Amino acid sequence: MDIRIYDTPAEIGEAAGKIFADLIRSKPDAKLGLATGASPVPTYQYLIGEYERGNLSFRGVSAYNLDEYCDLPKNDRNSYYTFMRENLFDHVDIDPANTHIPDGNAADIEKECREYDRLIEEIGGVDLQILGIGTDGHIGFNEPGDSFAPGTFKIKLHDSTIESNSIYFKNGDMPRYALTMGIGTIMSAKKIVIIATGASKAEAVKAMIEGEVSPACPASILQTHPDVTVFLDRAAAGLLTGEK
Ligand code: F6R
Repeated sequence: MDIRIYDTPAEIGEAAGKIFADLIRSKPDAKLGLATGASPVPTYQYLIGEYERGNLSFRGVSAYNLDEYCDLPKNDRNSYYTFMRENLFDHVDIDPANTHIPDGNAADIEKECREYDRLIEEIGGVDLQILGIGTDGHIGFNEPGDSFAPGTFKIKLHDSTIESNSIYFKNGDMPRYALTMGIGTIMSAKKIVIIATGASKAEAVKAMIEGEVSPACPASILQTHPDVTVFLDRAAAGLLTGEK
């Protein structure tokens, strides 16, 4: 793992954003794996800036999101569909037909999951995946458990995730279930960038980088991926000893 430590989220956003921008310039039909949440927002802001400065076009780019809540209308203000529009898609020239997010309201969830996996298998895995990490070590919505999930599946969110994410649900309960790419789907990415900031992530970051590879910390699987860059601020890196 290539570990890089910065002072501010904005510096991380620029550094991670440059990896995305360089890829898109060298491969205009790049396949991007995207995430929601606070961690990737500065990266998306850098990319929007590059587009506005005329330095980057998303015309040929395709996007594949990690996850989506179940039982939340697609256009709800807290859906990941809305998040992606507000934080990236509506501000760049990506073709909406090339943006993919699993449908958490599909009538046949199993079929939706298999079709989402098939979509990603057909492209041979995304070229570049951006990830955040949960305080419990989740990536996507792969919560700690007994095994690593191979493909996209429906998960019951853990209490710590509900606690972290319910701040966004001002007028009521947040969903208890989500669809998420499995660990196998995430690991099929050719390159992975993971971002963590703030002291609340320090324990999960330590387990991811210096702990044993175990489904008890889903992000620890990234130790076995050949091309992972970890972007941290000093607080998130605070418990690392550099011993692994
Ligand atoms: C979001 C996702 C989650 C988040 C994680 C960290 O699509 O898959 O794994 O990346 O919960 O969230 P933030 O960045 O809000 O701390």
